[in-house]
Amino acid sequence: MNETIQTILNRRSVRQFTQEKIAKSDLELIVDCALHAPSAMKSDYWHFTVISNDELIKELVGIMQDLLCKPEYDMYKPQALIIPSTKRDYRLGVDDNACALENIFLAAKSLGIGSVWINQLRDFNDADALRAFLDKLMVPKDHIVYGIAALGYPKNDLSPIKREGTYSYFE
Ligand SMILES: Cc1cc2nc3c(=O)[nH]c(=O)nc-3n(C[C@H](O)[C@H](O)[C@H](O)COP(=O)(O)O)c2cc1C
Repeated sequence: MNETIQTILNRRSVRQFTQEKIAKSDLELIVDCALHAPSAMKSDYWHFTVISNDELIKELVGIMQDLLCKPEYDMYKPQALIIPSTKRDYRLGVDDNACALENIFLAAKSLGIGSVWINQLRDFNDADALRAFLDKLMVPKDHIVYGIAALGYPKNDLSPIKREGTYSYFE
């Protein structure tokens, strides 16, 4: 089996990370892979905000704790976040976002880095605290966020799980 297929079949969502930092060059490589994801009509409206700074990650976690009314929420204590954003009025933004995230997850996996989709921000794009945070990171004002990626080195090995989905095949 080739390495690409192995990466796809072995990828799992990782929710427990070690404290090892991810090299900037790896994060940049992962973002480059996101930029190579398909986007509808090559729209390229997306922007990727990478955060590897602990204080900024904690600040966002704190904002989400308040917005979710869940003081225990920790976003799995990641070492880095990649926040794709796209134009608010762009109809296919959510589809482009999913393609970019999958490239991020697979690229990360191929580098031995764990990752997981974080879906909580999308419901709070107009919350003042989240918007102020995105403004601070220079996310374009006409952009919104759907899913984001939390990343870090996995604490444990996760084995591939049996998939229950079905398919039909006509020859
Ligand atoms: C649209 C979408 C939203 C998701 N949101 C979250 C999330 O907010 N938090 C989380 O821990 N996992 C999230 N996940 C990850 C799924 O729970 C995970 O992919 C699924 O359980 C299958 O496990 P696997 O990724 O290990 O194959 C999301 C996945 C997708 C596709």
